[in-house]
Amino acid sequence: MLDSHFFSYADGTLCCEGLRLDGVAEQFGTPLYVISRQSLVSQFKAFEAAFAALPHFTCYSVKANFNLSVIRALAAEGCGCDVNSGGELYRALKAGVSPDRIIMAGVGKSEQEIEYALNSGVLLLKAESVSELRAIDRVAGRLGKVASVAIRINPNVTAETHPYITTGDSKEKFGIDEAELGEVFGLFRSLPSLALQGLDMHIGSQIFDPEYYVAATQKLLDVLDSARSLGFDIKWFDIGGGFPVTYDPQKPATPIERFAEKLVPMLEGQGVTIIFEPGRFIAANSTVLLTRILYKKRNHVGKEFFIVDAGMTELIRPALYQSHHEVLSVTRREESVVADVVGPVCESSDFFARQRMIDNASEGELLAVLSSGAYAAVMGSNYNGRLRPAEVMVDGGEAKLVRQRESYEQLVQNEI
Ligand code: LLP
Repeated sequence: MLDSHFFSYADGTLCCEGLRLDGVAEQFGTPLYVISRQSLVSQFKAFEAAFAALPHFTCYSVKANFNLSVIRALAAEGCGCDVNSGGELYRALKAGVSPDRIIMAGVGKSEQEIEYALNSGVLLLKAESVSELRAIDRVAGRLGKVASVAIRINPNVTAETHPYITTGDSKEKFGIDEAELGEVFGLFRSLPSLALQGLDMHIGSQIFDPEYYVAATQKLLDVLDSARSLGFDIKWFDIGGGFPVTYDPQKPATPIERFAEKLVPMLEGQGVTIIFEPGRFIAANSTVLLTRILYKKRNHVGKEFFIVDAGMTELIRPALYQSHHEVLSVTRREESVVADVVGPVCESSDFFARQRMIDNASEGELLAVLSSGAYAAVMGSNYNGRLRPAEVMVDGGEAKLVRQRESYEQLVQNEI
């Protein structure tokens, strides 16, 4: 079982912050995301404590879980936001985050998105190409503004993680190549509506070894030297997100303190404010996906299937990255069984667990798919005509609805 203060068994029933999850499912139905507010806040605080020695600004990467209530819970603790699109910017502003606490990433921002960001007054736009810098200059010039810009460098460090979530490698689309830096610095001199205020990188996600950060940070520090020697006044030094969490108790994540031990000595006294963009670290283990067992069946080769009412449309990570998520029975059982836990979607990749030893729960009972707080609801879809589930947030022993379950009418509301 994952070690979490926020989801644990009491008298044989899985609870969130002490609240019984069978009762929550009864009240709100399934499938259902149940978010622990205290878990979000405590992860944010743990992150802040680890890097307390540095002058820094933590911007939660909203893409991990962009529910307005999640953003609000973190903003209330002083956390900023990293957004990746106009839609995420809209969400952060709607949640009440001040624009000067929002930074905007994105390898392909449209001119409309750039205009929206500049008109909103975001703290930084993180640019990823020479062409994008020209576009930002054009839009800012048209609006009579000077854009505050960070350049995202591709440090060409290949962090060991799933290949779909490594981003700091020259094979990938992200960031500006070091060979282009001369041209980029030149642009900041020649284009009137750009101000270079920050350097940025993001090398990937769920990275276990701090040495990848060390290597990439060293490259970014070299760029800082070059920028300063050319007279640029760099205020922000953004080393991105990617800090790991434990999904599988057999593979515990490197504690955040190990990253801080390596990075703090490199970054202190550099005369810049460090920006961090954790997403998964804050959100992943804050949430379980509650699902009911519809049917059980066993085939002639003795394979046992638990067919549940949630599927890859609610959590695509096992299908997309072969990722492990713990599956627990909400009512604890003495007996366990080896089974596949699968959803109702017409794809063989629609599973949460394969050949996994799990509690032998019965049809009609509830399972909880753990670590469903990051890249779960936000990557959900209506494939197979599925309705997006409701989301509730538990705080201080009470569950509140923070997203309504979708209806059939909503499924077709934009169609003519
Ligand atoms: N900053 C930037 C620029 C990013 O692209 C990302 C994630 C983050 C920060 C936050 O990374 P985190 O701290 O959450 O690792 N869907 C995949 C993960 C994709 C991550 C995309 N970028 C998954 O489910 O594993």
